[in-house]
Amino acid sequence: MLEVRDVRKTYGEAADGYVALDGISVDIRPGEFFCLLGPSGCGKSTLLNIIAGFEKVSSGAVSFDGEVVNRAGRDRMMFFQDAGSALLPWLTVEENIRFALRVRRVPKERWGEIVTNHLRMVDLDAHREKLPSQLSGGMRQRLQIARALAVEPRVLLMDEPFAALDAMTRRRMHAQLLEIWQRTGQTIVFVTHDIAEAIALADRIAIMSVGPRSTFLRVIDVDVPRPREMSGAFYAETFGEIEQLLTPEIRRSEARLG
Ligand SMILES: Nc1ncnc2c1ncn2[C@@H]1O[C@H](COP(=O)(O)OP(=O)(O)OP(=O)(O)O)[C@@H](O)[C@H]1O
Ligand SMILES: [Mg+2]
Repeated sequence: MLEVRDVRKTYGEAADGYVALDGISVDIRPGEFFCLLGPSGCGKSTLLNIIAGFEKVSSGAVSFDGEVVNRAGRDRMMFFQDAGSALLPWLTVEENIRFALRVRRVPKERWGEIVTNHLRMVDLDAHREKLPSQLSGGMRQRLQIARALAVEPRVLLMDEPFAALDAMTRRRMHAQLLEIWQRTGQTIVFVTHDIAEAIALADRIAIMSVGPRSTFLRVIDVDVPRPREMSGAFYAETFGEIEQLLTPEIRRSEARLG
């Protein structure tokens, strides 16, 4: 239902612009957990922004339920890369979630329960009355996560949402995200440059090449039940396979940068 067809993206004027993406195609299935994995600058955020309708393609198309995506849609939701950027600084923790529920027209009688559940989930229940500026960076990020999940979008677009969290909090967020995903049946497109994170979470992992003209080197199926044992044989095997694809890519980009 999320179809990416031969997407190409050039920044700047066509003649001397920077071709970030070239020939990206994939069908993301309803309810799938799909990871975009690749080195810094390969175009992960660009592709996610295109799927969100925030960024235009230069050619090709993205469609959602058969309709071409050309603007940000109500039933999709975006995570921003830097924590805190999308929170409203003059609203409290609780009000930030309520605001999102109102914008998304969630019936008012459900607000109380949703706010409580989601703040508990990310351990911010005791901080309801605080302003974003009174929270730590990790807490702000958890608030963003709670808010995005609270509106139950059909497709959740997450751009390195846990990158700034400490390892323990990140593992807890992984477990919670998987729990919510399994309960709601949402489709998730998740950007990361962390191989282990992709293996822990994804149904499929798209490995992207270094740009310019970044494309999918391979799409790997991770056909293993969750929670996944990070000490298991499949883990080492998948990790090795991905590393083998990415190592020459990273060398190439390092060589180019001199
Ligand atoms: N608005 C823009 N104008 C020109 N070039 C851009 C613009 N946005 C991104 N780029 C370039 O496109 C390429 C892909 O950028 P993008 O942000 O999508 O990478 P990324 O994979 O998300 O990187 P990171 O892991 O560091 O977040 C980069 O080379 C970047 O410099
Ligand atoms: Mg990015």
